[in-house]
Amino acid sequence: MDSFELNKLIAAVLMVALLIIGIGKLSNVIFHVEKPETPGYSVDVGQVVTTSTQSISETSEEKIDISALMALGDIKTGEKIFKKCAACHSIVKGGKNNIGPALYNVVGRNVAAVSDYKYSKALIGYDKEWTFEELNGYLIKPAKWIKGTKMAFAGLRKEKDRASVILYLNQNSDNPLPLP
Ligand code: HEC
Repeated sequence: MDSFELNKLIAAVLMVALLIIGIGKLSNVIFHVEKPETPGYSVDVGQVVTTSTQSISETSEEKIDISALMALGDIKTGEKIFKKCAACHSIVKGGKNNIGPALYNVVGRNVAAVSDYKYSKALIGYDKEWTFEELNGYLIKPAKWIKGTKMAFAGLRKEKDRASVILYLNQNSDNPLPLP
């Protein structure tokens, strides 16, 4: 290779380099890329948390405002409504299990907590407490709230009926819970 050819080669390389730089600059002009203030992707952890609380509040929104609902109830009505439940449940202290488990003390107690009652797998697997919300949800339509429950009861459609019977259940307890 003589020096002339070497020069040509170097010139060619330089041209290519210039071209690349030129295209780079040109494309910067054409596709004006805004640099983000903070480089990289910012993963907003707060947002992820909000999403999950959002889904919780979405389901609880379906469950309606429980303190407003409970305010609709009265014990007298609850006692009357409970006659529907009494076909299957006892409510007095020391009451026996029937088709359904004894319900004295049920408000605030763990789901499926009566030791000598044979619950469905669905209820045993339902790892919650009988809060006002849970009772309300279950009593709207038991089979929908806890799929596979063997409580063969259509449910109480009226809010006042549910609130009243829950009040009545709560009253029949060693430690009635404060209303929400
Ligand atoms: C046809 C019978 C029947 C009627 C009527 C009935 N239940 Fe039940 N209930 C059951 C059975 C059976 C279970 C057990 C469910 C299971 O194991 O899946 C049950 C379970 C429950 C539980 C869960 C108790 C626990 O220890 O976890 C509550 C609370 C309850 N019933 C409340 C009521 C109320 C309130 C009414 C009336 C509005 C009512 N039930 C009407 C049969 C009935």
